[in-house]
Amino acid sequence: MSIHISAAKGAIAKTVLMPGDPLRAKYIAENFLEAPVLVNQTRNMYMYTGSYQGSPISICASGMGCPSIGIYSFELYTEYEVETIVRIGTCGAYTTELELFDLINVDNACSESTFAKYAWGIEGSMIAHQGPAFSIINETAAAQGKKLKTCNIHSSDIFYRKTMDTPEVAVEHHCLAVEMEAFALFANARHLGKNAATLLTVSDVIPTHKKISADQRETALVPMMELALGATIKI
Ligand code: HPA
Repeated sequence: MSIHISAAKGAIAKTVLMPGDPLRAKYIAENFLEAPVLVNQTRNMYMYTGSYQGSPISICASGMGCPSIGIYSFELYTEYEVETIVRIGTCGAYTTELELFDLINVDNACSESTFAKYAWGIEGSMIAHQGPAFSIINETAAAQGKKLKTCNIHSSDIFYRKTMDTPEVAVEHHCLAVEMEAFALFANARHLGKNAATLLTVSDVIPTHKKISADQRETALVPMMELALGATIKI
């Protein structure tokens, strides 16, 4: 057990897929894993361990925002011997260069968050994906015939704001989309010498207000789940 996770030691695989939403973790475990076992439900932050095509894997929810993923990813890396975390989530596109349902493999996460600085003394507003997971995801997408874009994204602490203008840090680093977690995940992995990647599906296009509808969401995310699962078994 760790402070926020009640799974037994050894109950979590070395490779973790990390959606934000606990119910999405449940959906992936129940629909894609062989013999999934619920290993954590503290705070309803569901975590499951099972296998995919014979390889052990855990699906662990992160909750929303840098503080939440910062806690769960740290405890998984340090108390459960997790080596690789692949976040899977949704993002809002800042530009019409991206379309609904586009898949993105995050190159660098950029943020005005103080998380990396105050947690680990990591200066600057940009942190790269860590380790080989990013390249393995790119290779897996090619093998699966899936179109995948790589770009920088903005990890924002803010969902609702006064203006529609793209925030300065996102302009500075040419971020094409916004989500809320990758920066803290990459910071923890960098500090601990672990592997981390983030795979995103565009769920809304901010300038045009186009959105994936609530009932489209579950099936819209299936290609990302298949890509993430296919990649993690090669890590
Ligand atoms: N902002 C922040 N995070 C998001 C968004 C957004 O517009 N869409 C999906 N995740």
